[in-house]
Amino acid sequence: MESDWLDLKSKLNTIFYTLAQTIDEFDISFKPEIRVADPRFGDFQVNGVLGFAKKNKKNPHELGEKLLGEAKKSEALSSFSLELSGPGFINIRLAPKFLQQWVSHFCERCDFNQWLSGKTIVVDYSSPNTAKQMHVGHLRSMIIGESIQRILRFCGANVIRDNHIGDWGTQFGILTMAIKRAKVNIFTINSSMALDEFERLYKEGVNLTKQDENCLQEARKELVALQKGDPENLKIWETINTTSYRAFKEIYKQMDVTFDYVLGESFYRDKLDSVYNELKSLGIAEEDQGALVVFHREHERFGDQPFLIRKSDGASNYATTDLATVLYRHDSFHANEIIYVTDGRQQDHFQQLFLTVERWFGAKNIDLPELKHVWFGTILGEDGRAIKTRSGESIKLKQLIDESMVRALAIVTEKNPDLSQNEQQEIACVVGIGAIKYADLSQNRTNDYVFSWNKMLSFEGSTAPYLLYAVARIHALFRKLENTTNEGNQSRSMAALSTAEEVSLARKLVDFPSIIMQVLDDLRPHYLCTYLFELASEFSSFYNANRIIGEGRDVLEKRLLLCRFTLYVLETGLHLLGIETLEKM
Ligand code: ARG
Repeated sequence: MESDWLDLKSKLNTIFYTLAQTIDEFDISFKPEIRVADPRFGDFQVNGVLGFAKKNKKNPHELGEKLLGEAKKSEALSSFSLELSGPGFINIRLAPKFLQQWVSHFCERCDFNQWLSGKTIVVDYSSPNTAKQMHVGHLRSMIIGESIQRILRFCGANVIRDNHIGDWGTQFGILTMAIKRAKVNIFTINSSMALDEFERLYKEGVNLTKQDENCLQEARKELVALQKGDPENLKIWETINTTSYRAFKEIYKQMDVTFDYVLGESFYRDKLDSVYNELKSLGIAEEDQGALVVFHREHERFGDQPFLIRKSDGASNYATTDLATVLYRHDSFHANEIIYVTDGRQQDHFQQLFLTVERWFGAKNIDLPELKHVWFGTILGEDGRAIKTRSGESIKLKQLIDESMVRALAIVTEKNPDLSQNEQQEIACVVGIGAIKYADLSQNRTNDYVFSWNKMLSFEGSTAPYLLYAVARIHALFRKLENTTNEGNQSRSMAALSTAEEVSLARKLVDFPSIIMQVLDDLRPHYLCTYLFELASEFSSFYNANRIIGEGRDVLEKRLLLCRFTLYVLETGLHLLGIETLEKM
């Protein structure tokens, strides 16, 4: 089997396109679309004839007949059964023999490296603001971004992981004002306490600015002083940032998230003036009531709501930094694509940013990287509102992670009382973190979802524990085999796929590449979650109904092949979601 059969859907697409070109009634505008079919009628369905026929005022049924006729003659399709259905649709059923060839050929060799090779993609994710601890609101960008970057890398992209932390905002004016007023020596506080202390001071600062106009002015002055390079303010700022990032790093370590760069907002502070100047001289930005703004007059919503890139007091903002950041990523990283992973409330910001960059790069006549905003919804509490602690504060990420591991440990200890404490701990760690990640990734990212410990830690349904258990079960099988039989090592001959469970498991395995394609198209990891869950369920039916050992060597050989491939896909898939797997559970 040739390696281009790996993604069966794309392969079929190419075949049907090529076939159609040999038929007079078709032309290059014909776009076959291969869909997964209703299993009662086949495995795939070729769509597109109807649309083409309508557009060209032809009879879809006749065109379908012609295409089917060519398809039936085609060598490449000889092991498929094909039939016409409805106005021009062609149903395709894969023969067990084909499935077996495919599985044997690609087992543990699904190489998607070609798909995105040569492409440089910056993924901007996590990106929390400093001076505060990470809370539950920071979970999704980290989890979704990590999974997306892993998938892009797996498909051969040169991925640059950039943590664009918010380390240069107004929070520093307020915080510095509060620190100076309270006369706290922040350079000597114990670092584990420091973040709590900063948060307390920040809240105090916010209250002060609300109650007292003088404090507000002071906070503004401190910010301007910092931005101008005042040594004392710089030192305070630096201390806050190092302390914050140290705390972030602990969480990244637990969550197995790593970055290539941490180029926060402050990194761009000396690159902002040239942004103003260029945008002004290119006639893209204009002065408006003392501020510098970009109008997108043609846009229905932004027509009278300009993109503010310099405030009237001369201060830069989030937009300015983001403009400078795109340019930097273009110039220094040669990015072909930039992906931003943030919550849905920033949609307007990114739309305006992208529109502005489009005009700016167009005017400069430089390549525009593809810009994508991968946004997500909110995590809700069981009451259906944004998740909070009982006292109404945001839940600290550290606490959430710790709680997950404690809960997982209780479950693991109950299920496996005989394991050593160390082993139980280790499993609990993987299950606890995996559960949080999977619960998030298994939801369509643009939806809100309800955070539920019971659901995410359940061993039933589409959850991390269920999938991790499926993986461990296959490993256990291989261990047992090593110990009890040597059947596996000797035989090379393999029986043909025959039982219904074998065939439908093989059928599921064939979908793996096209699922990865689908995730790439939409940057939505939940497709992969759904698929892995369905695969694990197929496997479970197969395993319950088909004996692996004791049916003879050739049967053992084919069933082990299915086990190996399933294990490979489950482990690969979970790693692409950022989830560690276990051999024993
Ligand atoms: N710091 C921002 C926040 O906490 C997210 C930054 C996202 N990245 C960007 N380039 N704007 O919401």
